[in-house]
Amino acid sequence: MYKIAVAGTGYVGLVAGVCFAEVGHQVTCVDIDENKVNLMKSGVSPIYEAGLEELMQKNFAAGKIDYTTDFQSAYKDADAIFIGVGTPEQPDGSANLSYIATVARQIAESIEKDCLVVVKSTVPVGTNDKVEQFIKDFLVHDVRVEVASNPEFLAQGSAVHDTLHAERIVIGTESKWAEDLLMGIYEPFGLPIVSVNRRSAEMIKYASNDFLALKISYMNDIANLCELVGADVQDVAKGMSFDGRIGSKFLNAGIGFGGSCFPKDTKALEYIAKQHGYELRTVKAAIDVNKDQKTLLYKKASKRLITFNGLKVAVLGLTFKPGTDDLREAASLENIPLLLEQGADIYAFDPVGKDNFARLYPEGQNGRGNMTYVERIEDALDGANVCFIFTEWGEVKAVDPETYKKLMRTPLIYDGRNLYSVQKMKDAGVEYHSIGRQSVFREGVKESKHRELQTIGL
Ligand code: UGA
Repeated sequence: MYKIAVAGTGYVGLVAGVCFAEVGHQVTCVDIDENKVNLMKSGVSPIYEAGLEELMQKNFAAGKIDYTTDFQSAYKDADAIFIGVGTPEQPDGSANLSYIATVARQIAESIEKDCLVVVKSTVPVGTNDKVEQFIKDFLVHDVRVEVASNPEFLAQGSAVHDTLHAERIVIGTESKWAEDLLMGIYEPFGLPIVSVNRRSAEMIKYASNDFLALKISYMNDIANLCELVGADVQDVAKGMSFDGRIGSKFLNAGIGFGGSCFPKDTKALEYIAKQHGYELRTVKAAIDVNKDQKTLLYKKASKRLITFNGLKVAVLGLTFKPGTDDLREAASLENIPLLLEQGADIYAFDPVGKDNFARLYPEGQNGRGNMTYVERIEDALDGANVCFIFTEWGEVKAVDPETYKKLMRTPLIYDGRNLYSVQKMKDAGVEYHSIGRQSVFREGVKESKHRELQTIGL
């Protein structure tokens, strides 16, 4: 059993802290936000994540986890301090390291015994060398302190599961002492551990995320071509997936990748490369494809409808993916402002993301348009002129084609997640546009040669 402190209670920090407690360590989670700390003490998770609250409550009751704003008492006698604070993107694409620096300084001024500082946040290669020097420069007590890299590979929505059943744990250390300590902390998880040097560990994180982002952008690129040549990207992906070298995951074409990681980490690695005088062409391509993909359906729909002014627009799904209330870099955030600007009357459904979205776009008049948040998908669809699907929530998947036909004024769907069979939509008499598949036009609607991508200049 190790005494562990965790700095930052976002997705990375809180989930790590709770899982360390779950495998038997003594954990204190530190956050600067007093309200958040009180919330967590009362057993409520500040983020929506399956299974998290149950583990928080169980381990808090067992005295294995606590939450505090008092970093000094949490850090002073910890065996290891994990840093899981944010590294948001700056306008030039580089990572903002100011939160890491603040925590590093607090650690230097608080620790009273030998301590391993473990950086879980995604940081540019070489940052951990600097963090170690920074802490040493500000150390108050004469103790041994080292910094290790331990990138996080959990995905939002399945964070607890991903942590407890990770496919690998990557640790980057510069001494046997640090390696042994970190191995000891992870031993109870019983998972494969890849132990490398610090810079390689930092690079593994970016290389992994950017590879996945590239895989998605590649499929989106292929999807756009599929539409033009009369192929179906889902069939193409299926055919590719049996090749073990390609694999079956992350081949889903759609409305582009969002979230707090891929968009940020692709730009960050491109920036790091540039700083070293190198142009990372593949990653740049992934970014470019993603940028266009986000508003592809909006552009298609604008061509078809001429204007959204005064139209009832149903939006199904606001979050960047299902299973989370996170809106960061979600397709909804790119498309809804465009629709509002056009005077659309939007009815939005999302099982957990409505409140976060309403903070940015409150219910009622928003510029030329109007926002209404609904609890039931049927209320969004009822009398709607057009429907956009941005997130593949189970609730949305469960709506059958006939419901669109029955409830909407004009059954016209732009599906960014390829949730429905093209044939079934056709059979139900729904006009259906998706990604990388052939569009279904209703009788009487001109197909405009169905080469819409060409006409919007892609
Ligand atoms: C991602 C990685 O999957 C994690 O391994 C990593 O730890 C995490 O970033 C991070 O760096 O913290 P996450 O952003 O939570 O996790 O979500 P993903 O499930 O990877 O999805 C990211 C985006 O890609 C979503 O917008 C999703 O809709 C999109 N996506 C994913 C596709 O468009 N197609 C796919 O086939 C898969």
